[in-house]
Amino acid sequence: MSFLIQFLTQSLKDTRSIFNVFRGIISAFLLSMAVISSASAVDVPTLYKASCAVCHDSGALNAPKKGDKTKWETIKKKGMPALVNGVKSGMMQMPAGGLCADCKDEDYRQLIEYMSQ
Ligand code: HEC
Repeated sequence: MSFLIQFLTQSLKDTRSIFNVFRGIISAFLLSMAVISSASAVDVPTLYKASCAVCHDSGALNAPKKGDKTKWETIKKKGMPALVNGVKSGMMQMPAGGLCADCKDEDYRQLIEYMSQ
């Protein structure tokens, strides 16, 4: 009988330690998810450099230059949704998505704000 009790408490402890290991795995997983998701929220200047700067820094292919306020003021009259859609579908010289493979509408909006200043 005492053997049985010992066995039961032992396996109870085991279950707890398994649970702890499991909890450890879960929290490690959640932590890495948090790291990943904060890493994917790249800041706008970095995103700009990686995707749009090739053309919009130098004005290559006649792209409106970053910081050319007069030009961007005219462009922005089209309204932000139209500009975002323009980038997504591409324009005459601009490749669809502006070389940003995983930009979302919100990213484009921020990128356009950034390059128009
Ligand atoms: C390969 C060169 C290139 C890249 C990369 C590029 N663009 Fe452009 N972009 C252009 C050119 C050229 C124009 C001028 C319109 C045209 O001729 O297609 C333009 C125009 C624009 C306009 C004005 C559109 C309008 O309605 O007048 C916006 C907004 C814009 N780009 C945003 C972006 C954003 C945001 C990125 C990065 C995610 C980007 N572009 C990346 C070449 C580029």
